[in-house]
Amino acid sequence: MKHRVIQWSTGNVGFHSLRHLIRHPDVELVGVHAHDPAKQGRDAGALCGLPEDTGVVATGDVEALLALGADAVVYTAKGETRPQEVIPELAGILRAGIDVVSTTPIFLIWPAHAQPEWRDPLEQACRDGGSTLYVNGIDPGFSGDALPLAALQLADRIDEVRVQELVDYSTYEDPDFTGVSFGFGRDADYTPPLALPGVLRGAWGGMVELLAAALGVKLDEIREHYDRVYAADSFETPMMSVPRGGCEAVRFQLEGVVDGRVRIVTEHVNRLRDDAAPDWPRPPADRAGVHRCIVTGNPGVQLECFVTGEDGDHNTGGVQATATRLINAIPAVRAHAPGIVSSLDLPATPSRNLARD
Ligand SMILES: NC(=O)c1ccc[n+]([C@@H]2O[C@H](COP(=O)([O-])OP(=O)(O)OC[C@H]3O[C@@H](n4cnc5c(N)ncnc54)[C@H](OP(=O)(O)O)[C@@H]3O)[C@@H](O)[C@H]2O)c1
Repeated sequence: MKHRVIQWSTGNVGFHSLRHLIRHPDVELVGVHAHDPAKQGRDAGALCGLPEDTGVVATGDVEALLALGADAVVYTAKGETRPQEVIPELAGILRAGIDVVSTTPIFLIWPAHAQPEWRDPLEQACRDGGSTLYVNGIDPGFSGDALPLAALQLADRIDEVRVQELVDYSTYEDPDFTGVSFGFGRDADYTPPLALPGVLRGAWGGMVELLAAALGVKLDEIREHYDRVYAADSFETPMMSVPRGGCEAVRFQLEGVVDGRVRIVTEHVNRLRDDAAPDWPRPPADRAGVHRCIVTGNPGVQLECFVTGEDGDHNTGGVQATATRLINAIPAVRAHAPGIVSSLDLPATPSRNLARD
C-alpha cells in the first residue's frame, strides 16, 4: 500500500523532495502546494526539473489539498522567519488528520525546546486531528541525533560529545536566507541575525537539548559563540559575490554545560572558499564538507558523514538528504501515536528503496 503524500512548497528543499517523492516506488504523490502564483497550475514534474509530467498540478488552494485524503505532508516551506504564518498552516494540516514530516521550524527538532506559544497550538492540532508532527533534517537533525547516537553506542565513559558541520557553502545557492542570516559577504559593521543573543540557541539549541535527554543529563545552560573572518580580496561564488572586507567564513558553537563543564557541543564552520580561516576545523583534504561526531572519552569515537547530490555537489547532497531524512520517516511517523515527536521517539528510519534497475 503506497503512502499518499502531498509536497508542501517547492523551494530549495521542496524541489528535491518532489524529485524523490515522484520517483519513490512506495509513494503516490497526490498534491503539491506552491505559494508562488507563477508555480501554481504547473505540473509537479516540471517544477522539479523532471522530464515527465505527473498529472499532479501545484496549487495554492489549501482546502482542496486538505480534502485529498492524503496520509502525509512533506512540509518544506520557509519557516523560521515566518512562524506566525507557518504554525497555523501546520496546525490546519494536522487538524485535518494528516501526519506531517517537516524541515521547519527547526526549533521543533526537540519539541520541549520550542516556545509554548508555537508548540501548544501544534500539540492541540495533533490531539484534534489524531495526527503526528516530526521536524528534522540533516543539520539540525541527523548530525545531532542519528550520528551521535550511533557513535555513543561504541562509547563508555564520555567526556564530551561534539557534533560538527564543516561545510563549504559556496555552492549553496541560498543567499537570501543562509547568506543574510550568517552574515556572508557583509563587513564587520553588519550584525547578522545569527550573532544576536539567543538566535543560535533558538535555532540549534534543540540539538543540544535532544542529546542531553539522550544522555539523561540536565543542562545548566547553553552558551553561544559566533565568529567570522573577512576576505582580503574580492571573489565570486555561486552563492554570492564577496567584496574585499566581506565575511568569507563563519564559525559558531553552542555549548551544553552540565555541572559546570562543557559536555555537549554543536559546532559549525562554513566557508565560502576553501582557503578561508585556515586555522579553523575543516573537512578531510579531499572533501568540501563533512558532518562529524567526536566522542571524547574512553574509548574515543569519531564518525564522519559525507553526502553527495545527484549533480555531484555536496551542498545538493545536503539539501537532498534533508528531504530524504523526512521521506524515510513517513512510515514510522504514520505508525506513531498522535503528538509532536522527536528522533528519540521514533525507531531508526532507513531507506528501504533498494534500486530495482
Ligand atoms: N534541518 C535542516 O537540515 C534544514 C536544511 C535545509 C533547510 N531547512 C529548513 O527548511 C525550510 C526550507 O528551506 P529552503 O532552503 O527550501 O527554503 P526556500 O527555498 O527559501 O523557501 C522554501 C519555500 O517556502 C515557500 N515560501 C517562501 N516564502 C513564503 C511566504 N512568504 N509564504 C508562503 N510560502 C513561502 C516558497 O514555496 P513555493 O516556491 O513553492 O511557493 C519557497 O520556495 C527552511 O525553514 C529551512 O530552515 C532545514
